Amino acid sequence: MHSFRYVKGQLQCEGVALASLAEKHGTPLFVYSQATLTDHYSKLDRALAPLDHLICFAMKSNSNIAVIRTLANLGSGFDTVSAGEIQRVVDAGGDARKCVFAGVGKTEEEIAYALRQEIYSFNVESEAELKRISKVAVRLRRIAPVAVRVNPNVDAGTHAKITTGTYENKFGIAFEQIEGVYARAAKLPNLRLRGLQMHIGSQLTDVKPFQLAVEKVVPLVDRLNRKHGFDFFSVGGGIGIVYRDALASGDPAWWLTKEGKKVLTPQTYADKLVPLLKPLGLKILLEPGRFLTGNAGALLTRVEFIKKTGKKNFVIVDAAMNDLIRPAFYDSFHEIVPLKKKAGATVSSDVVGPICESGDYFAKDRPLAKVGEGDHLALLSAGAYGSVMGSNYNSRPLAAEVLVNGTKSAVVRRRQEIADIWENEQTAPWQ
Ligand code: LLP
Repeated sequence: MHSFRYVKGQLQCEGVALASLAEKHGTPLFVYSQATLTDHYSKLDRALAPLDHLICFAMKSNSNIAVIRTLANLGSGFDTVSAGEIQRVVDAGGDARKCVFAGVGKTEEEIAYALRQEIYSFNVESEAELKRISKVAVRLRRIAPVAVRVNPNVDAGTHAKITTGTYENKFGIAFEQIEGVYARAAKLPNLRLRGLQMHIGSQLTDVKPFQLAVEKVVPLVDRLNRKHGFDFFSVGGGIGIVYRDALASGDPAWWLTKEGKKVLTPQTYADKLVPLLKPLGLKILLEPGRFLTGNAGALLTRVEFIKKTGKKNFVIVDAAMNDLIRPAFYDSFHEIVPLKKKAGATVSSDVVGPICESGDYFAKDRPLAKVGEGDHLALLSAGAYGSVMGSNYNSRPLAAEVLVNGTKSAVVRRRQEIADIWENEQTAPWQ
């Protein structure tokens, strides 16, 4: 259940009217619902109750420190991919000892930092990386906890740019090579072979690929566990969310789309996977990102102009691809709704930003309520891979972010000042 819905014709996040936030803080503005973050975390946590488990929030999806703090307070661990992300957890008051550290290109400095922070485990993506971690651990006189990431070669059936578990991808080590890698790793100094990790892709709306991958990998985990004495198996992230019909309807089964299609719920996920995982007797780690944050956020924007050409009705807004790149990058669909509900016929519209690229759009030929200059719109399901993928392209400042909790709201990232965009730049001495 998420918390963006119309109340008396006004779009609200929990108990706060979004129009009032747009007025007060300006646009583009990301708004996050603390109740939704909590609800989604709790649903997953409850569904996994039969297992000894740790949810490691994939903070690449949204790394605002207020979001991290919300999840840390619920007991969450974190899936991190850089020293910067681990540092954010520490800064936000989270527990670095509940961090796993993934990524194919960890530098020696990052490994040393993670070791000093006593992270839970490195998710290792190559043999060269195992050797590097061992070397740094010897130098620092520490024992490095490691899990190798297995590439199970299972097609996740999702967008090509977010599929990670086939041999076309740069991630992990091929299923067939894993046992040899562990045998060699066991001979490297200062490593503790703590578990195995996998992740097959993102935005999976069907449980089947998860099931296939887990079925394939569990016997391997079992064999390795007998040899090396594991603590955990991480099944990665990837649980998909609703993007179409994303507006909460008041119906608790909001995951039913208009076509009646049921998307993946934590309970379905658990019903299929728990029986496969339970016999391992290991701690099970999960790395959900989008599931926790996606529908917990919206991007508010203001209509600047309506431009009609021979063929098109362009709604030009003040947010752009630098704020939310997903439509340009993956052709992603984000529901777009006015903050003040409009009656009457819809108009087929292209919603576009001010950036000088044809790819700077949020919707094409979309039936949209008739809006005019100064109206505000919300792009829904923008809590995951939204603000974190933002940039300063066209020297546009990064948007502000607000966290809502009931009837309270607080700025959790102030809008970047224009001059801050180039504060690290300077002219060359000969100029
Ligand atoms: N674990 C690993 C190792 C990952 O690579 C990812 C995501 C996750 C967990 C979390 O996946 P999630 O539960 O959020 O699906 N920018 C793209 C998504 C990239 C996902 C990258 N890896 C998008 O906007 O759709």
